[in-house]
Amino acid sequence: MTLDSSRRVVALVPAAGRGVRLGESTPKAFVPVGGSPMLVRAVDGLIASGVVDRIVIMAPIEMLDAARQLLAAHAPAASSTPVDVVAGGAERTDSVRAGLAAAPEATHILVHDAARALTPPSLIARVVAELRAGQRAVVPGVPVADTIKSVTAAGDVTGTPDRSGLRAIQTPQGFDAELLRSAYAVDLPATDDAGLVESFGATVRVIPGDPMAFKITDQLDLRLAQALVTGAPGVHAGTVTAAGVHR
Ligand code: CTP
Ligand code: MG
Repeated sequence: MTLDSSRRVVALVPAAGRGVRLGESTPKAFVPVGGSPMLVRAVDGLIASGVVDRIVIMAPIEMLDAARQLLAAHAPAASSTPVDVVAGGAERTDSVRAGLAAAPEATHILVHDAARALTPPSLIARVVAELRAGQRAVVPGVPVADTIKSVTAAGDVTGTPDRSGLRAIQTPQGFDAELLRSAYAVDLPATDDAGLVESFGATVRVIPGDPMAFKITDQLDLRLAQALVTGAPGVHAGTVTAAGVHR
């Protein structure tokens, strides 16, 4: 099936995490990067892509009003994309489940971390183009720079997978809505949405990601993001490679 005029692409934005590894006093999605909270930057990118019909943010329950006020204050004036805020849950999967419940009309769903605040709109558009072409599960991925080893709990190496066949996976992850709903209806462990869909037996297509879609996880990432948006001396977007910034 390809997308047609009845398509309803809803972007779910998990923004309910605490940001423990970042270590700021405010939940991570509300931490500013170059003056704009990550959440606002992520929403701006989704709107700028021009391929999203509605956005649902999942925020910490005590931040619902704050999120709505922020988005109202920062919303691009010309945008007609509706943005709603609902309460997230204890785990990221709980947050995505809450977002799915708030988007029953969706035919296609993007799940896009607020923490990937600098994701280029062009990457978002490429994920939706793949859905439009008939793919049911699409994720961006970048080559892995470090050698990866599997290890035991004690730290003994058990294997060294061929790096050329590995990808570090980013968001937005795009899905046929029915497929994602079905995967979420089964309680299986997974660290990302595509993982749930894989456990469900569906094929997931990886497309080339973008180094700017790196996840802001710790203080080093935050400094990198700040430097990229403020153009701090010594950091040039053109010199950042997939290998250098993805986390
Ligand atoms: N997230 C969420 N609900 C949760 C946990 C995470 O919506 N219960 C969101 C985060 O807000 C973030 C995205 O999922 O946008 C990716 O998660 P991560 O980078 O791990 O963020 P945090 O969970 O906030 O960070 P940490 O794990 O360091 O606490
Ligand atoms: Mg987390």
